[in-house]
Amino acid sequence: MGARIVGTGSAVPATRLTNEELSKRVDTNHDWIVTRTGIHERRAMKQGESLLDLMYEASLQALKVAGMRAQDLQAIVVATVSGEYYFPSTACLLQARLGVDNIPAFDVGAACAGFVYGMSVVHSYAKSGDYDRMLLVGADALSSMVNWKDRATCVLFGDGAGAIVLDNQPDDRGLLSTVVESSGAFWELLYVRSGHRLTFDEPGEMPEGWGIKMKGPELFKVAVRALSDVACKALERSGLTPQDVHLIVPHQANFRIIQAVAERLGLGMDKVYCNVQRLGNTSAASIPIALDEAVREGKIHDNDIIVMNACGGGLTWGASVVRW
Ligand code: ACO
Repeated sequence: MGARIVGTGSAVPATRLTNEELSKRVDTNHDWIVTRTGIHERRAMKQGESLLDLMYEASLQALKVAGMRAQDLQAIVVATVSGEYYFPSTACLLQARLGVDNIPAFDVGAACAGFVYGMSVVHSYAKSGDYDRMLLVGADALSSMVNWKDRATCVLFGDGAGAIVLDNQPDDRGLLSTVVESSGAFWELLYVRSGHRLTFDEPGEMPEGWGIKMKGPELFKVAVRALSDVACKALERSGLTPQDVHLIVPHQANFRIIQAVAERLGLGMDKVYCNVQRLGNTSAASIPIALDEAVREGKIHDNDIIVMNACGGGLTWGASVVRW
């Protein structure tokens, strides 16, 4: 049996924030941002907009492609660190919106690596035979967690949601392996205290000490090593090598990180899907949004070997290998 991805969907907020617009708010410029990160613009939620709406839209799209009704689902897992409530979980709110009852629904929190952590959960469910038809959503709104006065972080992040529907099918396609790892010793490289949120259009300022804190250059080095090592481990677990890969759909943090990882894996950029230039870093949403775009653009074919790898606050990292 193989847990196959039978549907994908994604949604982003309507508001585009270009580098030009950001350079009116903080001391930065288009050239600096593009040279260091590859990002040209990102999408951001306005005051009063809801991440749940984006999650719902992405989920409906994925269900439609899968040819399933929400009532067919047997489990809902949401990777996010942007829930509006401590409880209920974002997954329970999505479950209610979808009108499904009496199935497990819960959140997984591993920041930018959340989606791959979610993959490890649904993969285990599928292997155990406990659940066959599952919805996995990655959704985050980090634009409301950055300090809009901190030029080192506010240029990096955007908001969005992506969803996949999985179904256990009687063949060897689907999820082949998932490896997830963490190193709490690195927690201070990237963190945000719980509490304060401020959308980009909201009046006021974050109190001193709040907002996303990041040691960018150190994080860059750990991320490149972790992302390439974990992709190799996941491939090895499936009896594959980087040369077998048709497409990498990596976490979209920074074009230079993506390039450096591809280089370490010995892969050309023609084998890497990239949308960081349009959306920035959407945290747990970045892989499922990129996957949905790649599918819709016809870049993924039956039996292709796809690798998804991510690294985020914690630090956490992981990779999934799929035979499409
Ligand atoms: N505009 C203009 N100048 C800036 C900006 C900005 N937006 N931000 C920082 N600078 C300045 C700094 O103040 C510094 O100035 P100084 O030399 O006068 O002190 C200079 O630019 C260089 O700063 P660095 O931080 O050394 O720049 P670097 O080349 O490392 O690039 C970056 C910074 C883009 C953040 C890079 O370190 C990076 O991408 N790190 C990984 C971070 C990341 O992706 N985090 C996301 C979450 S983790 C993950 O998803 C993998």
